[in-house]
Amino acid sequence: MAITLEINGKSVSIKAADDTPLLWVLRDELGLTGTKYGCGIAQCGACTVHIDGQPTRSCQTPVSAVAGMKVTTIEGLGGHHPVQQAWVAADVPQCGYCQSGQIMSAAALLAEKKHPTDADIDAAMSGNICRCGTYQRIRAAIKDAAGIATALSAKA
Ligand code: FES
Ligand code: FES
Repeated sequence: MAITLEINGKSVSIKAADDTPLLWVLRDELGLTGTKYGCGIAQCGACTVHIDGQPTRSCQTPVSAVAGMKVTTIEGLGGHHPVQQAWVAADVPQCGYCQSGQIMSAAALLAEKKHPTDADIDAAMSGNICRCGTYQRIRAAIKDAAGIATALSAKA
């Protein structure tokens, strides 16, 4: 069936079976390959996108469940989001495979809490697995991103 979504600010109409995972629509139909497939069972966080601002596992989200909703992928952050600036400055990634999902979870956290505590970070990021063990750099970069976002909003 035809389903209309808003993806990274653009209205997109696609044809897919109702139960097609959003992840496959993003990657295979729309070429948005920044979102990764890890486990396929909502356990690793590699496929995290925002649905109406909430971090969501796209591998276990049927596309029909998000019809008419706002989907933001890593491409939609634009490359200069405070989290992305902090990630680059701290050289967070190792192999990089998990990092789109990590960044999307971190961006959703900072949208909710401008100055997250360690406990906030642990709670928000606990579902994002990194087999390379970049957790310490991720934590530091989230704190740096909070500072970058604050500085940018002070300038605005
Ligand atoms: S691929 Fe979706 S949570 Fe692992
Ligand atoms: S950077 Fe390799 S899995 Fe996270």
